[in-house]
Amino acid sequence: REIFYRDSVPSTNDLAKEMARRGAGEGAVVVAEEQTAGKGRLGRGWHTPRYKGLCFSLILYPPVVPSEAAQVTMLAAVAVASAIRDVAGVPAGIKWPNDILVNSKKICGILTELSAEMDKINYLVTGIGINVNQDLDDFPGELRSVATSVKIEAGRAMPRLKLLQACLAEFEKWYAVWLGQGFSPVLARWKEMSVSLHCPVRISTLKECWDGWAEDVDQDGALLLRLSDGSLKRLVSGEVTLRL
Ligand code: BTN
Repeated sequence: REIFYRDSVPSTNDLAKEMARRGAGEGAVVVAEEQTAGKGRLGRGWHTPRYKGLCFSLILYPPVVPSEAAQVTMLAAVAVASAIRDVAGVPAGIKWPNDILVNSKKICGILTELSAEMDKINYLVTGIGINVNQDLDDFPGELRSVATSVKIEAGRAMPRLKLLQACLAEFEKWYAVWLGQGFSPVLARWKEMSVSLHCPVRISTLKECWDGWAEDVDQDGALLLRLSDGSLKRLVSGEVTLRL
């Protein structure tokens, strides 16, 4: 596969989109030692400190309609959580929609961006940021209670290349399953790895906030939230906090 390696970039997702527009092949990877303007979900940033964080973006041309793109992000979450479990031996779980947590703290975030026209995806970029060799004091103060790294959880540093290889191998495996058998086996594994399903949760969207029971996730990756009046609310994006 094509690998575009850079020392420092503003965002591997942005470079990956540019490479896709220039005709990069299926499965091409953009990886950098650091990001200076990494992007997170919901307009937030993402910090990848030099040599400590792992950030990479996959360029894909999935044969599905744009509304099914969330399936690829969930597939990526399954792949990365599996890789972290296998390589680091820490209990990685998935929080809807696609955060990876260890011991309730965030170790990885995923941001998918796509270009589509009519009902066709031109290209899709899935960007993955993993906290690998950060110590607690590498995180800004406000993140210290909510973020963690492979090093903190496993008690030893981990070569980022080893983790990258494991992520790519797992992704390739699950992408083949998805192309061949559809989303059902991926969704089943996603549900097994989920730490936010069948729990009381609060979902904050940019303008609203809902408390309820995380009942299920549907074929488009939307969360089905059971509200206290018994009705079911379908949410396509938002931030989950687990309620006690
Ligand atoms: C989130 O949890 O909010 C998503 C974070 C996604 C971060 C990754 S790092 C590689 C890729 N490039 C970016 O600018 N963002 C993603």
